Amino acid sequence: MDKLPAHNPDSNMGDYNAACRDFRWEEVLKNFEFSSTGRVNAAHEAVDRHVKTMGDRIALRFLDDEEEETYTFQELSLASNRFANLLLELGVNKKDRVFIFMPRSLELYIAFFGILKVGAIPVPLFEAFMREGLLDRMGDCDPVAVVTHESLKERIPRDEVETLESVIVVGGTEENEIGFDEIKTKDSSFEPVWLDLDDPLLIHYTSGSTGKPKGVLHAQRAIIGHYQTGKWILDLNKDDNYWCTADPGWVTGTSYGIFAPLLNGVGTIIRQGRFTAERWYETIERAKVTVWYTAPTALRLLMGEKEDTASKFDLSSLRYILSVGEPLNPEVIRWALKVYKQPIHDTWWMTETGMIMISNYPSMPIKPGSMGKPFPGVEAAIIDDNGKELGVNEVGNLALKKGWPSMMKEIWKREEKFKEYFIFDPWFISGDSAYIDEDGYFHFHGRVDDVINTAGERVGPFEVESRLVEHPRIVEAAVIGKPDPVRGEIIKAFVVVRGVIEDREALCRELIEFVKGGLAAHSAPREIEFIDTLPKTRSGKIMQRVLKARELGYDLGDLSGAGEGV
Ligand code: WT7
Repeated sequence: MDKLPAHNPDSNMGDYNAACRDFRWEEVLKNFEFSSTGRVNAAHEAVDRHVKTMGDRIALRFLDDEEEETYTFQELSLASNRFANLLLELGVNKKDRVFIFMPRSLELYIAFFGILKVGAIPVPLFEAFMREGLLDRMGDCDPVAVVTHESLKERIPRDEVETLESVIVVGGTEENEIGFDEIKTKDSSFEPVWLDLDDPLLIHYTSGSTGKPKGVLHAQRAIIGHYQTGKWILDLNKDDNYWCTADPGWVTGTSYGIFAPLLNGVGTIIRQGRFTAERWYETIERAKVTVWYTAPTALRLLMGEKEDTASKFDLSSLRYILSVGEPLNPEVIRWALKVYKQPIHDTWWMTETGMIMISNYPSMPIKPGSMGKPFPGVEAAIIDDNGKELGVNEVGNLALKKGWPSMMKEIWKREEKFKEYFIFDPWFISGDSAYIDEDGYFHFHGRVDDVINTAGERVGPFEVESRLVEHPRIVEAAVIGKPDPVRGEIIKAFVVVRGVIEDREALCRELIEFVKGGLAAHSAPREIEFIDTLPKTRSGKIMQRVLKARELGYDLGDLSGAGEGV
């Protein structure tokens, strides 16, 4: 498909090249109160400071199947003050970690800002995680408190996390738990704990190709990037009805579901419940969504619906659509042009980058299949395995020059992991491969490592393999991402089992449930193959790449390091 004309030349950013030429991060600072007061707190910038000028505007709009409930900036400010006072009483201090393990709800957002106000570090976790998944993450960063819901609290490994003192529960409480409702009895005034730009903001856990999930710690300064990308990439304006479909358990749900809109004084729509085409289209119709930030898998699922599903809803409010998390097929853009009468704007970034780094802008022509161009002030390049910059159309490591405000500050307690991203300092190496075409557009090529991207969720093979081998029947396991037309990739496991397999299907089901029940539904394999031996290097490391090549029918390449089983 050829280049599509710019969707909206009159967007906030205006001309891309001019924006790049004139851009300075220092200028962006002027939009924050801390630039004149010297006192930093992300909750103050996103919520409290708006109370004076637009306290009655809606900050949160929560919809479930039947009803909706809204919170103005003022109400959110007061409720999160009460929550902050509760935390203080519980002895939560600056830099303490507080997990948020809740379904999407207003309480989640109140807790999030309350935690920020006391200077503590929120660690949001997606509600699908099970006990083992929680234990890996809690055991890593030692939280003092968790905010949860009665339907999820059983999964919290309270006895095994020694630091965990307070469990705050929305809904029914038992002994040793604190009811979320107690905030009603707390004072609604609170002065935020003032911080520096380099103090922590939050932690998101994400997966690499080896080892347990890593805690990506962001600094308060990340909000500078959230603000400006919200303005120029999401193109947010005060009267927009903005819906980011990501859960705050993932970085998109905090950077772009919370910070970017609120920092820009724009409310954010929260939809309870899981994805169904009807539920999502109904949300757009009911909330008159104007700007919609979503993901390729969701769009592919919508594309797979019956022709008339979209036409049953009034989607005419939509003025601008973006997506992130996986490659966006040109086919999806073609379909969107037909059904939504507009293209989808792809954006590229990662948990570690904290903000969108490469994107298609409303004022720039789209090349379907391309991720777009670097954000003004961001320097991106393709470098080879020796750190040398490559030329046009050459595939190599997608790298970003450090210095953008939302870059992660550290990997929690794992300095060596952090350093791995900077082997070619000052370049941050993303782990993705890509190339730049003759017009300066970036094109995604693949992951360099074994990280799996299933329906936009990043899963480390090691985490799944570790869970599988905990099953009494499993001797060894290896996990790969297998291409899938809807989910991008699915998780496929190769397992060596003990004893005779009587009923393959039953055992498959049992193993899948075992991973779901222990880790999380999205980490469970969709396919399992029983195998006699796993291919390994001479030193005994499992060679996932051999299994993947076999699965896809590729040439196995250089296997000189291989030992058994190849
Ligand atoms: C990985 C990061 C923060 C966004 C949500 C995912 C893949 C992300 C794209 C895109 C192709 C993409 C990359 C990246 N990815 N955006 N537009 N096209 N691939 O964050 O879980 O940290 O995953 O998602 O492989 O490295 P994440």
